[in-house]
Amino acid sequence: MADLTELVVNLCKRRGFVFPSSEIYGGFRSTYDYGPLGVLLKRNVMDAWWRSMVQERHDIVGLDAAILMAPKVWEASGHLATFTDPLVDCRTCKERHRADQLPESGRCPRCGSADLTEARPFHLMFKTNVGPVEDDASVAYLRPETAQGIFVNFANVLQTSRRKPPFGIAQQGKSFRNEITPGNFIFRTREFEQMEMEYFVPPDEAKGWFEYWCEERLRWYTGLGIPAEHLRLRHHDPAELSHYSAGTADVEFLYPWGWGELEGIANRTDYDLTQHAEHSGQRLEYFDQATGARYVPHVIEPAAGVGRSMMAFLLAAYDTDEVGGEERTVLRLHPRLAPYQVAVLPLSRKDTLVPTAREVLGRLQPHVMCDYDETQAIGRRYRRQDEIGTPWCVTVDFDTLEDRAVTIRERDSLAQERVPIDEVVEAVTSRLATAAAGR
Ligand code: GAP
Repeated sequence: MADLTELVVNLCKRRGFVFPSSEIYGGFRSTYDYGPLGVLLKRNVMDAWWRSMVQERHDIVGLDAAILMAPKVWEASGHLATFTDPLVDCRTCKERHRADQLPESGRCPRCGSADLTEARPFHLMFKTNVGPVEDDASVAYLRPETAQGIFVNFANVLQTSRRKPPFGIAQQGKSFRNEITPGNFIFRTREFEQMEMEYFVPPDEAKGWFEYWCEERLRWYTGLGIPAEHLRLRHHDPAELSHYSAGTADVEFLYPWGWGELEGIANRTDYDLTQHAEHSGQRLEYFDQATGARYVPHVIEPAAGVGRSMMAFLLAAYDTDEVGGEERTVLRLHPRLAPYQVAVLPLSRKDTLVPTAREVLGRLQPHVMCDYDETQAIGRRYRRQDEIGTPWCVTVDFDTLEDRAVTIRERDSLAQERVPIDEVVEAVTSRLATAAAGR
């Protein structure tokens, strides 16, 4: 792993963002748990996506479908037949690899041996049994993408939400893939969270909407602080396309190990709705009462991963600089994404300051996520907050008892402003609104 990755991984462990799963038992196969700060960052990433996809638009509605679905779904979607990766075994060290991820030499990345088996398809869906009988009839799968829950609910949503194309259905949730080579921390795991939106459009508008969503999704990442030069769109070669796609572009991020996929934007055509209509015998189409037109909408799908986005936001935010002759580590996370927006810090632990600091905390808590810390010297507490990305520290000092004002310190500029306690909520929320508007 490159240095920056190591620094971020260490910070994540040290400060409680991400822990290896089942760590007291030695960990479990590339799954991870999100700690007190990680769960806040994860929620903020997912909320920012939901806000931009659902809350701030009139044409997209939400859905939360079950992870376990009728096995016929996966037959119809083509996953049962084709959702595989090419697997090779090293005959020397017995390690298994993805054939399409071998180095150019074609040798085993672990031991260097050239003695590898022919590639064979390896199925990525996790199989389980539903109900008390373990037989072929009870087999079910953990979903490998959230998208199918949206397609099978297309008619339900169309009827109940009275939408007409172009319109979208957005969903966030867990997906599972038995990846041959998980790795790079939370970049590729076997259990992960997706944020997917299926946008249903008249067939002749698909190309235009595909381009629209490519631009829109790039804007989402840059709006939340990823530098534009660390992002690019990469269009798939025809040979690379998934079984359902007529065109895919990946939003790629420049990870320390090179460009890698952050999100896929696919033109899924009418493939999924047509397949489900055939397999279920239900009509999955749009009937325009005004014109009498009847058609199966085409689908443009921006599909992002929560872990990959978190990783990109953390890598892009990680920085060091010098303050007062001392090096500091600072996560320059967008204020909307930072685990805490504010830390309330009484200058000293003295009884005289604590009640006022608690009062300030109580005023802010209904509006933003706050930390409260009265241990250690104030300089060290600022450093601790910088390291986890808290954009504003509100300090209560001895003058506060006289003038009922506090100091707001900014993480990036280190600027300090004195603000009356009565205005502290407005001061913080207006700063947050300004950051969210990209000003
Ligand atoms: N419904 C389309 C679909 O699932 P995908 O490109 O296979 O497309 C979409 O996945 C996104 O989900 C990826 O861009 C990535 O961010 C995330 N993702 C996929 N597999 C992942 C894994 N094993 N670990 C973490 N994230 C993953």
